[in-house]
Amino acid sequence: MSELNINLTYFEEVESTNKVLKEMCDKGAPDGTVVVAWSQSAGRGRLGRDFSSPKGGIYLSMLLPQDDSMTITAKAAVAVRRAIEYCTDRQCQIKWVNDLYYNGKKVCGILAEAYKTHVIMGIGINFCTPQKAFPLELQNTAISLYPSPEKSDSDPMDTVNEVVRNLTHLCTEEDDSWLSEYQRHSMLIGKKVNVIQAGKVTATGTVSKIDNACALHIIEKDGQEMVLTTGEVSIREV
Ligand code: BTN
Repeated sequence: MSELNINLTYFEEVESTNKVLKEMCDKGAPDGTVVVAWSQSAGRGRLGRDFSSPKGGIYLSMLLPQDDSMTITAKAAVAVRRAIEYCTDRQCQIKWVNDLYYNGKKVCGILAEAYKTHVIMGIGINFCTPQKAFPLELQNTAISLYPSPEKSDSDPMDTVNEVVRNLTHLCTEEDDSWLSEYQRHSMLIGKKVNVIQAGKVTATGTVSKIDNACALHIIEKDGQEMVLTTGEVSIREV
């Protein structure tokens, strides 16, 4: 696939960078267009949820060529994981399908939306968000790479650039290196999980593997294997 012409636009705050990018796409913006904001007033998450987006985070959306494969979000998770490690020296784990965790808590969420003949890849990274800026209900589950802007020793712009560079590479070129990285850094292998559908636990089991199509394999109590290609699981406390 051809190289992308990268073009970044920055905002202090927007409702949602995915929304802004859709509007730019409607006006003819090409693949490679990137929108970055330092906070969002109406950030959107997967499964129709809100995405808390206080100041201190990186909120980024990138327009990419259409891709019907299930793996594009997994590639994005690897792209962000690599960027974070390179720019901040922090090691994150990937929680299937595409959340990143740092020290056991969620540090990044990814929302890929099909739009016209494109994919809008939306990425939210808690970069140096003070813990108290997260809503009460996220206090125990969200974390930032740095506890505050003052305690950060790296420039969020470097992470933005590295994420865009990695995404461009993994989403437009033949390079399968992301797959073993995705599998290796997955935090679910060997874990007991609940399968959640429409907000309810519908099955439980132990994760045996993530296959080459990024499907999650779960062995249920009766030995049956369940293969999930999309959806949500939570780790069971034991
Ligand atoms: C999730 O964890 O449910 C996915 C969250 C995706 C959030 C990002 S932030 C940048 C982009 N703009 C949005 O409104 N959402 C995505």
